[in-house]
Amino acid sequence: MRVLVTGAAGFIGFHTSLALLERGDEVIGLDNVNDYYDPSLKEARLEILRQFPAFRFERISLEDGEAVSGVFRRHQPQRVINLAAQAGVRYSVENPMVYGGSNLIGYLHILENCRHTGVDHLVYASTSSVYGANANMPFSERNGVGHPMSLYAATKRANELMAHSYSHLFSLPTTGLRFFTVYGPWGRPDMALFKFVKAMLAGKPIDVYNHGNMKRDFTYVKDIVGGIVGVLDKPAQADPNWSAMESHPDPDRSAIAPYRIYNIGRGAPVDLMDFIRVAEQELGLTAELNMMPMQAGDVAATYADTTALQTDIGYVPSVPVEVGVVEFVRWYRAYYNV
Ligand SMILES: NC(=O)c1ccc[n+]([C@@H]2O[C@H](COP(=O)([O-])OP(=O)(O)OC[C@H]3O[C@@H](n4cnc5c(N)ncnc54)[C@H](O)[C@@H]3O)[C@@H](O)[C@H]2O)c1
Repeated sequence: MRVLVTGAAGFIGFHTSLALLERGDEVIGLDNVNDYYDPSLKEARLEILRQFPAFRFERISLEDGEAVSGVFRRHQPQRVINLAAQAGVRYSVENPMVYGGSNLIGYLHILENCRHTGVDHLVYASTSSVYGANANMPFSERNGVGHPMSLYAATKRANELMAHSYSHLFSLPTTGLRFFTVYGPWGRPDMALFKFVKAMLAGKPIDVYNHGNMKRDFTYVKDIVGGIVGVLDKPAQADPNWSAMESHPDPDRSAIAPYRIYNIGRGAPVDLMDFIRVAEQELGLTAELNMMPMQAGDVAATYADTTALQTDIGYVPSVPVEVGVVEFVRWYRAYYNV
């Protein structure tokens, strides 16, 4: 298969591209390699992907509609995985316009090109943040998602709704994946585990938000990639039994259009303090804790109900934090030589 992966220089895009290349697919990677975090980490990921002859790379921005169309014209991807986006809940409070550009305009360019070139499946990143103020645990695709707590979450929810309209109008099969806190080797420097390990190795204190009263459904990146590839291989189909009545139990998982939404998480929330303890054990260090209040836009807990993904593609996440954090720390120490 020829697959366009946007955000290929990013954390999840890199691992996804690698998995596709390793199984023999052709991958066209698209990324603008921006400096939201250290671009040299993105370049290092690309260096690995470039070792595969079936990998080609396009350094462009999703906001540049002409350039995006050029990529679709030149490469004619059969399927598309859209992972390029401005990520980060906290950053969106101070930098809203970047989210409008990448996550709304850029995403619309992807939809338009999928529509006009007859792509047979678009898989795209959404987020657990769409659950916002919802406090029903675990988060189910059946819960309401009408109360986002950050602009980041609002743009990702918008992506889901935009996908629905294209699935409906143009029969474009789309699958949205609501990722729950992804971590692992080659992870993002703006995320908790990376920041914790970096600070601890430098003998600096770590910032612990909401005074440590946080639970996250930390999900190992290989489990996420398994789910992405699994849904990619099974294009969304319309559900002839779908009912437009409000009482229908699947408001987001199925539709009259070829459209699906799935949670993808480990389904086992971990206390932030326990997560820190695993890192401490592996590093043989004790973290100095800088207790902080809750951050604007953040939520205290996330917990994925992944029954739908299990039923439809047999998704079973297998990596607990005791293993995943160790993998991350080993990668970090080797990569940064510390
Ligand atoms: N990592 C997580 O825990 C998590 C959780 C929920 C959702 N997500 C979503 O998953 C996707 C991938 O996240 P990630 O953690 O790999 O982030 P990342 O920042 O490492 O990867 C995103 C990549 O997209 C590129 N990019 C950003 N805007 C672009 C644009 N306008 N044009 C072209 N390239 C652009 C960046 O350079 C980067 O390499 C994102 O959509 C993110 O919102 C991630």
